[in-house]
Amino acid sequence: MQTVITKMLGIEHPIVQGGMQWVGRAELVAAVSNAGALGTLTGLTQPTPEALRSEIERVKSMTDRPFAVNLTLLPSLKPIPYDEYRAAIIESGVKIVETAGNNPSAHMPAFKAAGITVIHKCTTARHALKAQQIGVDIVSIDGFECAGHVGEDDIPGLILIPATVAQLSIPVIASGGFGDGRGLVAALALGAEGINMGTRFMCTKEAPIHDKIKQAIVDGNETGTTLILRSLRNSSRVARTALSESIIDMEKQGMGIEQIGPHVSGLKGRGVYEVGDTEGGIWSVGMVQGLIGDIPSCAELVHRIVADAESLIEGRLSRLCKTAAAA
Ligand SMILES: Cc1cc2nc3c(=O)[nH]c(=O)nc-3n(C[C@H](O)[C@H](O)[C@H](O)COP(=O)(O)O)c2cc1C
Repeated sequence: MQTVITKMLGIEHPIVQGGMQWVGRAELVAAVSNAGALGTLTGLTQPTPEALRSEIERVKSMTDRPFAVNLTLLPSLKPIPYDEYRAAIIESGVKIVETAGNNPSAHMPAFKAAGITVIHKCTTARHALKAQQIGVDIVSIDGFECAGHVGEDDIPGLILIPATVAQLSIPVIASGGFGDGRGLVAALALGAEGINMGTRFMCTKEAPIHDKIKQAIVDGNETGTTLILRSLRNSSRVARTALSESIIDMEKQGMGIEQIGPHVSGLKGRGVYEVGDTEGGIWSVGMVQGLIGDIPSCAELVHRIVADAESLIEGRLSRLCKTAAAA
C-alpha cells in the first residue's frame, strides 16, 4: 500500500509509531522500522543529549531502515536543553523528526539545513495550518481519542482528520484511536496518507515495558481512560486509575501545579512501566485500548493491519460498490 508518506519517508507501509515517553526506546523503534513502518525514538526519554546520541546509535545497530526521533516541546518545571537535543539528532544523521507540543519554528532552520523531514504532531486544524506555514513537511493530527496530550478543543478524529486535510496542502497522518486494519482504511477514506499509533505499539512484544501494563491494556476497554490536568489547560489522556481519579478531585478542589505536580511526576510514570504497578504513577493510554486484544510482535501487528486493510478494501467495500452498481 503506497501513499505519499511511504514515498516521503522511505517506508513500506503507511504506519508510524509516535513518540512515547519511557516507551519509545531503541528496541521498539528498531522492531517497528524492521516491520516496514516508521519507528520513532523519544528524544526526551533519554536523560541527556549525550544519552540520546548513544540511543540513536543503538537503533542504527538494530535496523538499517528509516526511523525518526521525537522532540516534544512542552513547558517543563525543569528547563530542557532543547538546542543540545536538536544538535544530537542532527549530528547523529537522523533524517526524520517528529515534533509535538509547542510551535517548532525555532528548530526549523537547523532541521531544514540538515535535510531533515519534519512531521509536526498537533491537535487542532489551526495549529496544523500554522505548522504548514512554518515549513514542516507532514502534519500528524491527533484526535480527542488519543493517548497523552489531547489539547483543549476535544474534536474527535472523524471530524478533525478531514477538517485538517481540507485546509492543508501538505500530507496529513491520522493519529489517535488507530489500532487495526479498519482504522487504516477509515484514515485513508478521510483523506489521510497513513496512521500514527501509540497505544497499539505499547502493547507489542518488543515494547520495553512491564508485561502487567500490556495485560492491563488488553484487559481494559474504551471507557478505561480519563483526562487529567484540564484545569491547567494541559489536558492529558491517561489510564483511569484510583490515582488519576484523585488528581481530578484535586483539580476540582482548585489545587494548582505546586500541589498536583509531585503526583503526576514523570519519574513515577517511568516506574509504572518498569515495575508494572498500574497505580504507581500516571501513565498514558488511549481509548483504542478497547480494540486491543493481544500482544503481537511489531512485525505481526504491522502485517496484520495492512493485510486486513487490503482485504477490507478489496472485499467488503468493493462488493458494496459492485452491488450498488448492479442495482
Ligand atoms: C505511553 C505514551 C507516551 C506518550 N508520550 C508522548 C511523548 O512524549 N511525546 C509525544 O509527542 N507524544 C506522546 N504520546 C502520544 C503518541 O505519540 C501518539 O500521538 C498517540 O498515542 C496516538 O494516540 P493512540 O494512543 O490512540 O494511538 C504518548 C503516547 C503514549 C501511549
